[in-house]
Amino acid sequence: MSQQYDLASAVGFQDDDQPVSWNQRDILIYGVGIGAKRDDFAIINGLDKSWTPFPTYPVVLPFKGTSQDVVNFRQLMTGGKRAPGLPKFDPNRGVHGSQSIEILKPLPAVSGPGWKVKKRVVGVSENKSGIILENESTLVDPHGTVYAKLFSGSFNLGAKATGTNFSKRIAGPPQAKQPPKDRKPDWVVRDQTTPEQAVLYRLSGDYNELHINPAIGQAAGFGGVILHGLSTFGFGARAVVSAVGGGDPASLRFFGVRFTAPVRPGDALETLIWEIGPVGADVAGHAGETEVAFVTRNVATGKVALGAGVAYVKKAAGVKGKL
Ligand SMILES: *[C@@H]1O[C@H](CO)[C@@H](O)[C@H](O)[C@H]1NC(C)=O
Ligand SMILES: *[C@@H]1O[C@H](CO)[C@@H](O)[C@H](O)[C@H]1NC(C)=O
Ligand SMILES: *[C@@H]1O[C@H](CO)[C@@H](O)[C@H](O)[C@H]1NC(C)=O
Repeated sequence: MSQQYDLASAVGFQDDDQPVSWNQRDILIYGVGIGAKRDDFAIINGLDKSWTPFPTYPVVLPFKGTSQDVVNFRQLMTGGKRAPGLPKFDPNRGVHGSQSIEILKPLPAVSGPGWKVKKRVVGVSENKSGIILENESTLVDPHGTVYAKLFSGSFNLGAKATGTNFSKRIAGPPQAKQPPKDRKPDWVVRDQTTPEQAVLYRLSGDYNELHINPAIGQAAGFGGVILHGLSTFGFGARAVVSAVGGGDPASLRFFGVRFTAPVRPGDALETLIWEIGPVGADVAGHAGETEVAFVTRNVATGKVALGAGVAYVKKAAGVKGKL
C-alpha cells in the first residue's frame, strides 16, 4: 500500500519553542571545543578586556537546551514534534548538510532564565537520493528580542515521499558568491585540531556517540571517530575572525557553510578566504560590512570539509585584502 505524503504541508510548520540557557563557563568550554589556543584571550579568557562571547555559540543551544549536565543524545533526537506531511526518517541516515548563523545582537555572557529557540521548517526538497529538510531557528530573549537567526539543512538519505523533484522554500540564508577560479585567496589560515578535539567539543552539548566511540565511526565507514561538523564550523569562524576581523569575535555578523567531507580529530585544517566586496545593499542590516567567500580544507585528506562558505565581517582597520 502506498502512503500519501504532502511535502508542501511541512513547509512553515512551527515546532514548540525550546527553552535554552548558558553561563560564561559554557561559552569558554565552547571556545576550546572550536580550537581556541591558550593565547586567544578574546575567546578563552573572560577576564581579558578583549573577551566577548564567541558569536557562533548559539549553534550548540538546540543540543544543550537548559541542561547543566550531559544530554541524552538519543532521547533528544527522538523527542520533539514531527512536521506533517513527511515520511519517517531513519536517524542513522541523516546528515547535517548546511549551517548558517546571522548575529543580530551580541550575546550576554550569562543568559539568565527565559531565553528560547523558536523553530520552523522553511524548506523541503526531494531528489532521487533522499529528502532535504531546511529549518530556521531564532534565539530570542525573555522579551522576544531576536539575537541570532540560524538555518540548518539536513539530508535524509534514502527517504522517499513523492518520487518527484519536489522543492519548496520560504526562507533561507544568503548564498555564497563564487570567487573567480583563477584568483588566489586573499588570506590562508592554517590550524590544527587535536586528537581530543571531539572530546572537548561534545562538552558543549552534542553527545552523539559517533564522536567518542571509534567502533561506531568504524561501522559507519569513517575509520573511527569523526569531529563534530559544528566544531569544524567554529574553526572556520575563528579563521575568518582572525584574518578579516582583526581577531575581534564581535566582527563576525554572518557565517554559513555546507558540510562536504568529514574531519578526524587530529587533522590539520586550512581556511582559504576571498574578499568579495561590501555586503550588498539588498541585504538588510549589514551595511558597512565586508562579504568574504571561503572554504576550509582538511589538509590530511585534501578534501574540502566546509564548502560554499560565506561570511559578513566588520573588517578591521589596517587588515589587507583585495579592496
Ligand atoms: C527540523 O524540524 C523538524 C520539525 O520540527 C524536526 O523534526 C527536525 O528534526 C528538524 N531537523 C533538524 C536538522 O533540526
Ligand atoms: C540530492 O541532494 C543532495 C543534497 O543536496 C545531494 O547531495 C545529492 O547529490 C542529490 N542527488 C541527486 C540524485 O541529485
Ligand atoms: C529530477 O531531476 C533530475 C536531475 O535534474 C532529472 O534527471 C530527473 O529526470 C528529474 N525527475 C523527475 C521525476 O522529474
